[in-house]
Amino acid sequence: MAEVRKEEDTVAYEIVDRIAWVKFNRPEKRNCMSPKLNRQMKRVIDELEFRDDVGVLVLTGEGTAWSAGMDLQEYFRDSAAEGLKGVRHSQREAYTWWERLRWYQKPTIAMVNGWCFGGGYGPLFSCDLAYAAEEAQFGLSEINWGILPGGGATKVAQLLMPFRKAMYHAITGENLTGKEAAEWGLVNEAVPADELKARVTEVANKLLEKNPFAIKATKDAVRRVGEMTYDNAEDYLIRAQESLDHFDSEARKEGTRQFLDEKSYKPGLGSYDVNKQKR
Ligand code: ACO
Repeated sequence: MAEVRKEEDTVAYEIVDRIAWVKFNRPEKRNCMSPKLNRQMKRVIDELEFRDDVGVLVLTGEGTAWSAGMDLQEYFRDSAAEGLKGVRHSQREAYTWWERLRWYQKPTIAMVNGWCFGGGYGPLFSCDLAYAAEEAQFGLSEINWGILPGGGATKVAQLLMPFRKAMYHAITGENLTGKEAAEWGLVNEAVPADELKARVTEVANKLLEKNPFAIKATKDAVRRVGEMTYDNAEDYLIRAQESLDHFDSEARKEGTRQFLDEKSYKPGLGSYDVNKQKR
């Protein structure tokens, strides 16, 4: 059947209690990423990034898929028909929103409800945390249709999995269940499908309790230091904390005050009350 879904309908979202639930919304095409979807996703995440009523973004999929990867018709075949210009243009539209999400202001969680293939590993890695239904299926299916896992997918497998597992996964094109994906390091945890949303909500609520500036600095630091020497990382982290003090000078003082003076919490056991902090 010809694609009839309008560009603005390829992504859906709702905000509930400071969690933005963003959905790949092409269930009839297993949420594969077309140029339209990539453009719309960029618009949606841009729109949500600095809203005060959003503290955490969850990326999930409508229907049986999280995302069946890149759209073989619209992303690959139609773009190739326009030559190199078409190919590069489509790649940029996809990679741009994945990059935006990697360095997003708010913490992000991939809630993998079903199929997750190939190009889907890009946004999967962009999300800071990932939770999957045990029944979900993950695959680098590229080898099955005669290409290599591009668009960052090979890099994601190599970064998140031990070498032997990444290699096996990439060259056999065999799928992993959500449960195996958790064991192999692709996602944090897998739970039965009917418990997935509750588990993700629980984790999101935990993140909502934290200081939002500290969480942004921390998540960026975890991504950045991987490629640094120890000394470079040490220096980067000193500067990152100093710039945090610059943007949110009260945080550290307030966290210390509530522990040492007020004795209202213990940092080893949970977060200080960020709502009491002067802004
Ligand atoms: N690109 C284009 N169309 C797709 C894609 C895709 N990646 N995935 C699914 N569709 C379309 C199907 O062609 C079909 O369209 P139609 O109804 O017009 O015929 C529709 O979505 C439903 O797909 P089915 O195959 O009928 O759904 P089913 O639930 O039986 O299977 C599955 C789901 C396993 C995900 C299957 O659709 C599939 O193998 N898709 C391709 C997965 C893949 O290899 N993605 C590319 C990874 S490589 C990369 O991203 C670079």
